Amino acid sequence: MIYKKQFDCPYTVYDSMDELNADDAELMRKAHEAARNAYAPYSKFNVGAAVRLANGAIVKGNNIENAAYPSGLCAERVAMFGAMAQYPGVPIQALALTAWSATKAVGEPVAPCGACRQVMVEVEQVSKRPLRVLCQGDTGPIMVFDGVESLMPFVFLDKFL
Ligand code: THU
Repeated sequence: MIYKKQFDCPYTVYDSMDELNADDAELMRKAHEAARNAYAPYSKFNVGAAVRLANGAIVKGNNIENAAYPSGLCAERVAMFGAMAQYPGVPIQALALTAWSATKAVGEPVAPCGACRQVMVEVEQVSKRPLRVLCQGDTGPIMVFDGVESLMPFVFLDKFL
């Protein structure tokens, strides 16, 4: 037998931050703030992320590059790992992501890299609730995912270990 299958990856698009609810808008504003702190002298692609925890705290992260390129880290992982280090055991509810570039306009939503999606999956599992993910460029529409499954089908899980 041969089966043809497909995934459904639902997400919502908002035309601007004005259309987001107050919590989401605040989180995205923090991500934009974080992007100003990026250390990206090599790519000039400045990424900001912000995560909201169940205790109401917001933790920001930005990409941090290195002359030895692979030693750098993405904004999302800086934010998620920072939150887990500062607030161990506190569930993470949502993550907002944005970027601006010194060399070009970023007018469409930035999609998180695969390694960050893999970390989001683990964060979602540990948090025992869907991780809401909001993606925006420096300007333009915002894509909102109600959980990581839409971003990361066929994920590697601890059950395989
Ligand atoms: N980057 C992030 O911070 N997050 C992503 O999801 C994709 C890429 C950073 C890594 C690097 O510093 C720069 O963007 C260019 O790849």
